[in-house]
Amino acid sequence: MAKKIFIKTFGCQMNEYDSNRIYDSVKKIGFQKTDDYKNADCFVLNTCHIRDKAKEKVYHEIGRVKKIYKQKNKPIMVIAGCVAQAENQEMLKRESYIDIVIGPQSYHKINEVLKKFVPDTQKEETEFDTISKFEYFDKIENKSNKVSTFLTIQEGCDKFCHFCVVPFTRGPEYSRPLKKILHEAETLIKNGAKEITLLGQNVNAYSYIENSKKYRISNLINELEKFSELKRIRYTTSHPRDMTDDLIDCYANNKKLMPFVHLPIQSGSNKILKLMNRKHTVEEYINIYERLKKINSKIEFSSDFIISYPGETNNDFDDTLNLVKKIKFINSYSFIFSPRPGTKAATLKLIDNKTSKERLNEIQKYLFSHQINKNRSFQGKSVEVLVENRIEDQLKLFGRNKFNNSVIFVGDENNIGKTVKVKIESTNQNSLFGKIENSKDMKAA
Ligand code: SAM
Ligand code: SF4
Ligand code: F3S
Repeated sequence: MAKKIFIKTFGCQMNEYDSNRIYDSVKKIGFQKTDDYKNADCFVLNTCHIRDKAKEKVYHEIGRVKKIYKQKNKPIMVIAGCVAQAENQEMLKRESYIDIVIGPQSYHKINEVLKKFVPDTQKEETEFDTISKFEYFDKIENKSNKVSTFLTIQEGCDKFCHFCVVPFTRGPEYSRPLKKILHEAETLIKNGAKEITLLGQNVNAYSYIENSKKYRISNLINELEKFSELKRIRYTTSHPRDMTDDLIDCYANNKKLMPFVHLPIQSGSNKILKLMNRKHTVEEYINIYERLKKINSKIEFSSDFIISYPGETNNDFDDTLNLVKKIKFINSYSFIFSPRPGTKAATLKLIDNKTSKERLNEIQKYLFSHQINKNRSFQGKSVEVLVENRIEDQLKLFGRNKFNNSVIFVGDENNIGKTVKVKIESTNQNSLFGKIENSKDMKAA
């Protein structure tokens, strides 16, 4: 009988992509994916280290697993992801329940490690071996059957923003060969994918040289555009510094590239951006915004903000508020600065909790009200939705409009994988609700 593996995934889309690739890999050694977390032979926590007490959360999760499996056979306990990379040996020492610690650039070793696993021993794999990892996974077909699917094109980061752990947990920047990415895209499309989101910690820093020709993310977008069965293209997460002319031009030339740009700025103050080592200014950011809006005034933006970065004064914070009032982001992430071990900002003097919370509340008041107003503006209108799936235990369908808003609506399941028109009847902060208008497959955006 096949052994069962359950992966609990935290963090960003890259972790979600990785978890699916781990499932693909371990199939070869007889492990089958299960959604029943209480009855697995192997339990993987794919962790995130970006904020807060990431390490403590992992120990808390292990505590829960211990309880669930108290009267049962202990599953092979694997810690993967960015906390595994950052904490490695320390985790094994502190928690004997952990069997395997494996970092994001060592996933090509997962089958070997599981095959050779001997109970009551511990194993750590945290080398940065990104090339071998992708070479290994290139040989395993990615048949994730989703209508909307992720495709990692780039990993790691060389920018070293002073607040961020990613360069330490994912390692240096690496871009996959263009042909391998296109081959994976072709497999995904043959298998039903209608929307592809290109992924990378710095996705628009993608740079691959072959026969002295440099390929960028714009080349990938142009190539993906040619797949007739593919309806939509997205990418995330991009860095303002890498919003080059060729990528901006894609918004004029590519019909399938969605008019929604997630472009983190972090702060509206140049002083703070400099302290963060962000390598871009507010003016450069606004320039990108204006150029894109000129190409297509319907393009919408979302962003990430770090509140109360050490040194942020009331004036700096007001600069961020002013930016938010100017660019009406339709969806954004905002968090109080969280010191991460090993980063340059880890030891800087923190801004007191009360001020930080007040600032967070203030900025979220604007961000959320823009989001609510934008969603409300769809009420009574007909929006184009790519139908992704049926919502479990409900008779409703789920999909997204061009701006990545969730749309929940009444309609026929036969429309999954198609682009349909949905009449929006009501909205809240996070979603639009409505009814399908016609079931005829529409042309891509
Ligand atoms: N590469 C992207 C960029 O440069 O904009 C960001 C990737 S990072 C995985 C996602 C977001 O986490 C960042 O945009 C930032 O807002 C947030 N973040 C990273 N480190 C943080 C920290 N120490 N405290 C709070 N938020 C943090
Ligand atoms: Fe982190 Fe993004 Fe900065 Fe890289 S560019 S260090 S991933 S925030
Ligand atoms: Fe978290 Fe690692 Fe992604 S720290 S945000 S899982 S790259």
